[in-house]
Amino acid sequence: MKFFIDTANLSQIAEAQSLGVLDGVTTNPSLMAKEGIKDSSSILDHYRKICEISDGDVSAEVISTDLNGMIEEGEKLAALHPRIVVKIPMIKDGVKALKYFSEKGIRTNCTLVFSAGQALLAAKAGATYVSPFIGRLDDVSTDGILLIRQIVQIYGNYGYETQVLAASVRHPMHIIQCAEVGADVVTCPLNAITALLNHPLTDIGLEKFLADYRKSVS
Ligand code: E4P
Repeated sequence: MKFFIDTANLSQIAEAQSLGVLDGVTTNPSLMAKEGIKDSSSILDHYRKICEISDGDVSAEVISTDLNGMIEEGEKLAALHPRIVVKIPMIKDGVKALKYFSEKGIRTNCTLVFSAGQALLAAKAGATYVSPFIGRLDDVSTDGILLIRQIVQIYGNYGYETQVLAASVRHPMHIIQCAEVGADVVTCPLNAITALLNHPLTDIGLEKFLADYRKSVS
């Protein structure tokens, strides 16, 4: 399973990259705004910087909601760097844009997916990635992991090549459950990735090994 980081914060991306387990980055307009990136030229510049400090695919989201706008914006974003993936919302014109980009060989990530039907449409339109938002489903008492399981099964049934990118991941158990049900990718905040490191028995065990070593050499 690939690990993406879900942020536009350059130091968090660099920290995850330095761990050696990072496969890519996803962003969205809210995450860009959180970093204070506002006008369109600083947005493009920020995506370039993200590509420079990370190795994998970088999802860059369009703001337009009409087909022509999405095409114009998406082509500009894709021209920034070969690892840019154009992020398109799951709306009617978005499906048309996915098809357009797939025919042009431009890779896409279909975002704001909350149902298996939406995921099926994204795959049929040729999306490279589909992003079901599991945390936001859990927030409204709906099982987000169940949706990942359904999409993995449906794509497997028909051999769709669209990769299931579990998004809106909130904690380490989400990551483990995504791995159990066969998500291709998880995109998570840095603290969910680093939380996987922690186990009290590791800390206790290491303390004891080092104490025994110190005793033996004193
Ligand atoms: C997906 O690509 C989105 O950026 C993200 O995962 C949304 O997560 P949130 O629900 O924590 O905002």
